[in-house]
Amino acid sequence: MSLSEQHVRFDALQQRIEEVLDQWLPPADHNPGRLHESMRYSVLGGGKRVRPLLVYAAAEATGARPERVDGCAAAVELVHVYSLIHDDLPAMDDDDLRRGKPTNHKAFDEATAILAGDALQALAFHILAVDPQLPESAATRIEMIRILAEAAGSRGMAGGQAIDLAATGRSLTLPELEEMHVRKTGALIHASVLMGALGGAERGDARLQALHRFAHDIGLAFQIQDDILDETGDTEQLGKQAGADRALNKPTYPAVIGLDASREEVELLHDRALQALEDFGPEADLLRAVGDWIVQRTH
Ligand code: IPE
Ligand code: IPE
Ligand code: MG
Ligand code: MG
Ligand code: MG
Repeated sequence: MSLSEQHVRFDALQQRIEEVLDQWLPPADHNPGRLHESMRYSVLGGGKRVRPLLVYAAAEATGARPERVDGCAAAVELVHVYSLIHDDLPAMDDDDLRRGKPTNHKAFDEATAILAGDALQALAFHILAVDPQLPESAATRIEMIRILAEAAGSRGMAGGQAIDLAATGRSLTLPELEEMHVRKTGALIHASVLMGALGGAERGDARLQALHRFAHDIGLAFQIQDDILDETGDTEQLGKQAGADRALNKPTYPAVIGLDASREEVELLHDRALQALEDFGPEADLLRAVGDWIVQRTH
């Protein structure tokens, strides 16, 4: 896929998810207005939408139309945004800037930010339960719910965040660091790919195994790249405070193995992720392109 073709495809899907999210979010003038406003503030009009792109791309790789997975794309983005709102709270990373604007608790207040996160997570599962466009099979819908629940919970994102907080100011071994990254960020990336893939594949389909391997590696690469950009990027381009990890003494790949080795690790994981897709034809080109972007991105 050429770069300009890639740009057009990403752009169209980013616009698509914006509309889908806008439709599911409660209107700001519905009671309690301040809570709904804060949910809309953090979800709409920002972010790269990497996880929805992965959902749509994995659906395409298994031959499904995007409307079959709009609900999955929205659900995973909502869980992600909830995780960002809580990640930025004073009790966690204490950040003031997110997606180029004040963090939710700065624009509103801490209690509202906590509740916005809670409500976004609930909305995600509501969508998976009721969206009429998801695959008709109840077993598939329940499998999607299971995948997202596991990825968001203590064995996934929330667990990874707990490990991150417990490790702040301490040093971790490389296997410990890898486990933290696989959980806190890899899990939702993995869930995005698998939920999208269920748009066109049934449980037991051999393609799911390959997509699972792709998702694991690209998910870990994503967080290593996030650590690298925290060291090397600038605040304006990132839309969040650069150098925040070092300031908080966070265990990151660059802190543990250095920048060069971190970049090599990203390359290695990217290569291995692409190899996992070798039995796919052009139907996985969009997925390959999202994988490329994840490791080459500058914000
Ligand atoms: C940032 O995720 C938080 C991590 C899990 C590393 P993204 O880099 O996907 O953030 P947005 O959604 O584009 O703002
Ligand atoms: C965040 O990791 C992982 C989440 C579950 C949100 P970071 O704390 O590194 O994310 P940023 O750098 O603040 O976006
Ligand atoms: Mg954090
Ligand atoms: Mg953070
Ligand atoms: Mg970070």
